[in-house]
Amino acid sequence: MKKITAKELTNEEKARLVIGKNTWHNEDLGGKVPVFMMSDGPVGVRHPRDVNSATSDTAPSIAYPCFEALSQTWNLELANKLGKAIANDCMDLDIDVILGPGVNIKRLPINGRNFEYLSEDPLLAGLLAKSYIEGVQNENVGACLKHYCCNNTESSRNYKSMDVSTRALREIYLKPFEIASKAKPWEVMCSYNLVNGCRMSENKKLYNILRNEFGFDGLIVSDWGAVMDREKSLNAGLDLEMPYSKEHLDDLLNKIKEDQIDLDQLNTCAQRVIDFAFKAENTRPLRKKTLSTEDRYDIAREIANEGIVLLKNENNVLPLNPKEERLLVSGAPLNWYVYGGGSSEVTPLKEYVKLLDALKEEGFNAKGANALEFNRGPVSCVGNLVGALNQTIKENITTSIVTISQDNWEQSEGYNRQNLLLSNEQVSLIHEVAKVSKKTVVIIYAGAPIEMGEWIDEVDAVIWASYTGEKGNESIAKILSGKVNPSGKTSETFPLLLEDFDSINAYEDARSCVYEEDLNVGYRQFVTDNTPVLFPFGYGLSYSNFEYDNLKLSKEDKKVIVEFDVTNTSNIDGKEVAEVYVEDLTRVTYRPKYELKGFEKALIKAKQTKHFRIELGEDAFQYYSTSYDKWTVNHGVFKIMVGKNCLDIELEENIEY
Ligand code: BGC
Repeated sequence: MKKITAKELTNEEKARLVIGKNTWHNEDLGGKVPVFMMSDGPVGVRHPRDVNSATSDTAPSIAYPCFEALSQTWNLELANKLGKAIANDCMDLDIDVILGPGVNIKRLPINGRNFEYLSEDPLLAGLLAKSYIEGVQNENVGACLKHYCCNNTESSRNYKSMDVSTRALREIYLKPFEIASKAKPWEVMCSYNLVNGCRMSENKKLYNILRNEFGFDGLIVSDWGAVMDREKSLNAGLDLEMPYSKEHLDDLLNKIKEDQIDLDQLNTCAQRVIDFAFKAENTRPLRKKTLSTEDRYDIAREIANEGIVLLKNENNVLPLNPKEERLLVSGAPLNWYVYGGGSSEVTPLKEYVKLLDALKEEGFNAKGANALEFNRGPVSCVGNLVGALNQTIKENITTSIVTISQDNWEQSEGYNRQNLLLSNEQVSLIHEVAKVSKKTVVIIYAGAPIEMGEWIDEVDAVIWASYTGEKGNESIAKILSGKVNPSGKTSETFPLLLEDFDSINAYEDARSCVYEEDLNVGYRQFVTDNTPVLFPFGYGLSYSNFEYDNLKLSKEDKKVIVEFDVTNTSNIDGKEVAEVYVEDLTRVTYRPKYELKGFEKALIKAKQTKHFRIELGEDAFQYYSTSYDKWTVNHGVFKIMVGKNCLDIELEENIEY
């Protein structure tokens, strides 16, 4: 198709171009402009069969582990592979742009979208998103970085202003967008909420930062229904409103007639839509499937293997020897596939793998507890409890596996959870089973922290499964048998109590949410004020033991090179994530006690030592100065800390910078 310019079009045609044609496509003006298709969502393609609907049944596609699980791998290569796999899925369904990744910071663990987002830390979230985008786009499919920005709560998300300081915006909330923008995403999607009183679909100031400072040169698209006033959003620089809105189009056309629209701005946005449509069309012939369906399932398995976190393993009760065990599995997830709700829901390509089948495949003698009733959800645990108790006692069960879930109607886009509690029924199941069992292992399928203080001391092991996708139970079974050595680490703080978060105690009403905790988001708060936690940020157990040694710091131009050795002193190969934190010892202004500035995950063979070399750039030492209006280093002494998690610092040394 011959490329046209916006100037060749009538104003009416331009107006039609800047609003979608239906729920998933752009307007093609009767063939003058190529059509492109966008589809959710970050962890598998959610392709509604009806283009005029957001919720109708969706075509089956591989359901990968959720982003919470991906982030717990701390593995940038896996994020890249996931992007590549999803781009291949897009090719199967003729999709040009996948609507992800979402990089909003996990400010509150009750946020309904917690499972869709990557971390409470901007570096971890930003780097994973960057790598994911590169994975998608190297296959000539577009990625859409979302939701710009501060979609940190689902309660009244269309009306609430996120009132946040410039420093917290720059250092915490914009940072993952800044980092991920380096991958040149094809699109950025604005969020529903307002920031400091200005709706994000109309936020010229933050769009200017995105374009002029972060170098974004693609299409700014609205979240679905996030535009309230098309003229204002146009003037701010929002290129494409999605989905189609007759009301907004009529309004725009009327205003054009009445000479009320800035035609240069209309031209600019229309031209961007045209450029984008031709880019999609021109890259389409370049798309070649590089992965078979089985290859993509292997990637899903790798992410689940590395994203599941072993939270507790008293007396090394795990791994279990399949030849010596009689397992009894109870709890609702025994019979249900568990996933998060909302626009990232995917209809699995195949029948999901049940935990019992996966355990049997691993050679375990395993059976499910009898149930009086078995409905989906937490309450059904009661029906299961009686069976679980009787069988544990009578059938010489060696290990009880209690499965617990919070699924798509508890953790979902559109609303927040009220608390971090399990239901009474779930807690009774754990209590009662633990009382009569020789060993109890709890497996939790959820996409956001829950409180565990009530029962955790009564059980021997806890596996944080996350939402592991349609093949995820295979990984859980392999972790139980020891075939997979767990290497996942938390990407957010698990508090003892929800109230321990300053962010939960900050002022909030239906109209505004004040980020009173400012820079002290997630672990930044807990390491600064020494509040005890259930599990700290960056925490996860392995079947191997790792010892850290020989920290050496040196400087190369503006970089600090952090070198150290990690030895696997155990008899089994394992992967370890080494985390580097930096503290500004001579700070001139407030800074959280210390912050993550580098990390690396590596396989370390049994009895072997691996040398790590992590480079810290100037940005590792900077803060955003609101007096100078720029990133600034306060030159002085910095403490470099290397640890297994944010509280377990193994090595440290000071350096002048
Ligand atoms: C979500 C987006 C999603 C869009 C299209 C919105 O409700 O916030 O993340 O991409 O719907 O389904």
